[in-house]
Amino acid sequence: EQFNSFTAGNELKPDSLLDYNKCISDPKYDDNPQVTFRNAEYLLDFAQEEGLSMRGHTLVWHSQTPRWFFTEGYSRDENAPLVSKELMLKRMENYIKNVLEYIQSNYPGLVYAWDVVNEAIEVGDDMPGYYRSNESYWYQIIGEEFLEKAFEYARKYADPEVRLFYNDYNTEQVTKMNAIIDMVEKLKAKDLIDGIGLQCHIGHNSPSITDIESSIRKYAELGLEIQVTELDMSLTDYTEETLMKQASRYKRLFLTLKYLKEKGFANITNVTFWGLSDDISWLNKPGIPNYPLLFDQYLVQKPAFWGAIMHPDIPLN
Ligand code: XIL
Repeated sequence: EQFNSFTAGNELKPDSLLDYNKCISDPKYDDNPQVTFRNAEYLLDFAQEEGLSMRGHTLVWHSQTPRWFFTEGYSRDENAPLVSKELMLKRMENYIKNVLEYIQSNYPGLVYAWDVVNEAIEVGDDMPGYYRSNESYWYQIIGEEFLEKAFEYARKYADPEVRLFYNDYNTEQVTKMNAIIDMVEKLKAKDLIDGIGLQCHIGHNSPSITDIESSIRKYAELGLEIQVTELDMSLTDYTEETLMKQASRYKRLFLTLKYLKEKGFANITNVTFWGLSDDISWLNKPGIPNYPLLFDQYLVQKPAFWGAIMHPDIPLN
């Protein structure tokens, strides 16, 4: 009833798709990483049966990508040397090819957008262009060129109607935003990118909706699609009052998104929540439950739901 698109939270990430046993089974796979969809198939089947579309998340990311993917001979030894740039580019190309070709041939039209690269900017690492370096083997092996290459390969193997996204968090922080814009501009000039994904893992009172709005206006000036890809609003203090505040903030956010879209300020083509109900949110920590989403553990609408659909009874305060 409520959704027409969803994202697999983990099942299409490299650590879920890479098939270690097959990769090491034959030296011919050294530059051609083998994948398996055994963890993802039930979701792809579900989407197809229910007539839902999916966002693909994510091809090239520093996290949830095993170290052995980057080592000589796919070694799991923690001291194993990393491969050369040349070999890693081949692994990247073939990984992207294998993933896209499997999905496009088995589930044509199902995945309409891919987060080709996720979270490549980290201001704190203090590198030129603010590229993430410390935690990223992609950056360490290939250098900043990995970004353009990822998009180049994705463009090469993606069906023409599949849209290619760069996705990141804290996208309203000004230094990070400017770094993302500089990077995306270069991709756009080569027609390698179609959209920017704003994760929007936000707090219950920061960032301000105004800051989110002005960042969306800036990103939209690039002439790309904007999608809100992982929306949730952290809330650990669960009272009637805080739930209503959360509802108001969701309402203000959705009014803003609707306004930006309707007035033609931003081509916002999707909003996705990072989970359906609070009990399964990634924000829950042992002993510290979180209530960031629209539905409670019984799948009953919270005030946040009525806020998100901009119900008149939810105050804006
Ligand atoms: C999270 C998942 O929800 C968790 O289950 C997993 O343990 C860690 O990753 N940004 C992203 C998502 O792009 O892939 C992350 O998802 C949340 C932050």
